[in-house]
Amino acid sequence: MLYPDIERVLLTRQQIQERVAVLGEEISADYRGKELLAIGVLKGSVVFLADLLRVLTVPVELDFIAVSSYGSSSTSSGVVRFLKDLDKSVTGREVLLVEDIVDTGLTLKCIAEHLLSQGPAGFKVCALLDKPSRRKVPVKIDYLGFSVPDRFLVGYGLDYAGRYRNLPDICVLQREVYEGGK
Ligand code: PRP
Repeated sequence: MLYPDIERVLLTRQQIQERVAVLGEEISADYRGKELLAIGVLKGSVVFLADLLRVLTVPVELDFIAVSSYGSSSTSSGVVRFLKDLDKSVTGREVLLVEDIVDTGLTLKCIAEHLLSQGPAGFKVCALLDKPSRRKVPVKIDYLGFSVPDRFLVGYGLDYAGRYRNLPDICVLQREVYEGGK
């Protein structure tokens, strides 16, 4: 096995890089002649965002937002707490929100409402991963990397209990790790 605690690799670093390159081309074409404000949602998006930025060919400014979900995932109220807001207003800007994964959609819905209330010139969402089977609220993803099954995924920025973000591939975590057997 490549990594401890990992059941299998779901998406290799090569598959990820190829998809990121395509996303970068699409986004660059759509925003030709415009200046983009890319907003990363800390912390999971940082690895994806760092790679995506470097394949964009339009001028890009970067900012970050940090949120924390309330309650356990099974009883989530859908309320998120903003831990770090943007440095500058998004009013009149072409905003691209960058997420590592959309699960229930609750986080994205809250962040989108928060940003849209400031009147950006445009607002689009780029997510590397989507778990559509887990959705609780409808959300629009304009640029999607991969649709994935409902398994606990780690690596390429995604964590379990703060760990595994550094794995270069996106991996399925062994059940024993998060079900307490290990
Ligand atoms: C993850 C991910 C999204 C959110 C998606 O963040 O980055 O922000 O969960 O879940 P949802 O669609 O059910 O709301 P997480 O809370 O794990 O924090 P992290 O980015 O710091 O890992």
